[in-house]
Amino acid sequence: MRAISYRRTGDPDVLTLIEKPIEEPGPGEVRVRVHRSGVNPTDWKSRRGSGSGIEVQPPQVPNQDGSGVVDAIGPGVDAALAGRRVWIWEAAYQRPEGTAQEYAIVPARKVVLLPEWASFDLGACLGVPFLTAHRALTVAEEGPTELSPGALSGRTVLVAGGAGAVGNAAIQLARWADATVISTVSSPAKAQLAAAAGADHVIDYKRQDVVAEVKKIVPHGVHNVVEVAPAANAAIDAAVLAPNGAVAMYANDGGDEFTLPVRQLMVPNARWQFVLLYTVPEAAKARAVDSVSAAVLSGAVRVGDEAGLPLHRYALEETALAHAAVEKSVVGKVLIDLEA
Ligand SMILES: NC(=O)c1ccc[n+]([C@@H]2O[C@H](COP(=O)([O-])OP(=O)(O)OC[C@H]3O[C@@H](n4cnc5c(N)ncnc54)[C@H](OP(=O)(O)O)[C@@H]3O)[C@@H](O)[C@H]2O)c1
Repeated sequence: MRAISYRRTGDPDVLTLIEKPIEEPGPGEVRVRVHRSGVNPTDWKSRRGSGSGIEVQPPQVPNQDGSGVVDAIGPGVDAALAGRRVWIWEAAYQRPEGTAQEYAIVPARKVVLLPEWASFDLGACLGVPFLTAHRALTVAEEGPTELSPGALSGRTVLVAGGAGAVGNAAIQLARWADATVISTVSSPAKAQLAAAAGADHVIDYKRQDVVAEVKKIVPHGVHNVVEVAPAANAAIDAAVLAPNGAVAMYANDGGDEFTLPVRQLMVPNARWQFVLLYTVPEAAKARAVDSVSAAVLSGAVRVGDEAGLPLHRYALEETALAHAAVEKSVVGKVLIDLEA
């Protein structure tokens, strides 16, 4: 079978098309015939590692997310999984077997059933963005720990960067859970994407005063902030947070360090929560997987232009181009097509 692999960290050109044998799944594992591999920033960041030219042993097949059909099951795995359509999360975390290959061996707990009517495109967009967004939306003191319809009813969520992949997921999940959603963007084109994702209010942070606009919509502030650029937006977040609100920051886009006004944030018992998907507590991650699966089953999750998440397609042998596109912050979602 064909696979993409890298033996050294570095630029996209370390990604090499190789032939390798199709292996049998071990205990607790399944083998998935991969239809789509989804590319996220974490995939190129892992490929770059902590510097160029560092040996990767064993060689790594990149990409955490994907979708496909289970074509073999290992000992101890529920036989009902055989032949089922699934989406895959965290395939490559602390494992050499990512989804950029025709057949991926994955722990059975990291595949989730994908209904017949849900596309493989959708399945490959779920893992990193939606599980991260779920975590970011469930860390506030008086908020829910799991999303479902009505769970965020009466709450307002501010999603920074609603045209990003995680931003898009946060808007969709928050709307599914009945929150009022405000999103910031940097351009009119991105405003259209955030609105298509379902944001009730969109603020162009390059052309409008975000704090003033948010206060017009919710004078008492927002309950959750889903933050991609905590350093750039620290003052905004501090100014718009409601009592007992939480800022969940999942990236350091726009700076790695920032200061906050301690006294001002003590008064509302504000919370700043760091989020890294890989190390989210197991119970919280299990709730996220269940909840995202429920959102998919209910038809609430969409991808593509009409959902504010344009898709960009590459062939397996173009995986280096796919990684480069994500690294250059292409707007939307990058997918690698392996099967129809
Ligand atoms: N912690 C985790 O577990 C986790 C999980 C997933 C992703 N991430 C990280 O999160 C980041 C985004 O991932 P992604 O897949 O969503 O990438 P993406 O699709 O490229 O989206 C990034 C978004 O951030 C926006 N942005 C940047 N600076 C901003 C600012 N000051 N205010 C508001 N929005 C701003 C960008 O829009 P503009 O530049 O136009 O504003 C863009 O829409 C990456 O660094 C990724 O590695 C972390």
